[in-house]
Amino acid sequence: MLTIRQATLTDLGVITEIYNEAILKTVATFDTEPKTPEEQESWFAEYGRKYPILVAEQDGHIVGWASLSMWSDRCAYTDTAESSLYVKEEHQGKGIGRKLLEAIIQEGQKAGLHTVIARITEGNEVSIYLAESVGFEHIGIMKEVGRKFGKLLDVYLMQKIYETPTAPGNTA
Ligand SMILES: CC(C)(COP(=O)(O)OP(=O)(O)OC[C@H]1O[C@@H](n2cnc3c(N)ncnc32)[C@H](O)[C@@H]1OP(=O)(O)O)[C@@H](O)C(=O)NCCC(=O)NCCS
Repeated sequence: MLTIRQATLTDLGVITEIYNEAILKTVATFDTEPKTPEEQESWFAEYGRKYPILVAEQDGHIVGWASLSMWSDRCAYTDTAESSLYVKEEHQGKGIGRKLLEAIIQEGQKAGLHTVIARITEGNEVSIYLAESVGFEHIGIMKEVGRKFGKLLDVYLMQKIYETPTAPGNTA
């Protein structure tokens, strides 16, 4: 059975394992060196109610995670977050990424975020498709901004804006 829940500090080892696998094998992230436990502890400490991390747990094992991180530490960006989504290689293609993405998008809405941005490396058709399917729109392409495994890479910028209820008294 698959459960999606808030991540706790005890999940950090497996979250890191899944992320490090993607660092070493894919261009999905532009990190190139595996993260150390110390780096990951500082990373985890930045999250909370506004910027959540969720994990997908199957039969007691963490098989994927998703997060909404602060887009910028400049205060006016406070209601903007960036999404991340990683599923363990052997569990990909089984619907886990979709469930995590849908759940993290809901968490963002509950947390009062206004918008979520996704940066997706060229060629990552599954991520582009998943993002489109939960309401992200294409807002641009950053050309040749990354170089990994000897190749220059474009990054697709996608954005979801939450529909917010009209403020009381503002009926225009
Ligand atoms: C991207 C990732 C998170 C997706 O998770 P997943 O569990 O494999 O994805 P799911 O099985 O939930 O969904 C895959 C969907 O993409 C579709 N799909 C599969 N291959 C596809 C392709 N080449 N092009 C378009 N859609 C594709 C599937 O049909 C499915 O659609 P559906 O939900 O409508 O049936 C996962 O593959 C992953 O961790 N990849 C490496 C890291 C990464 O790329 N992270 C994202 C960084 S932006």
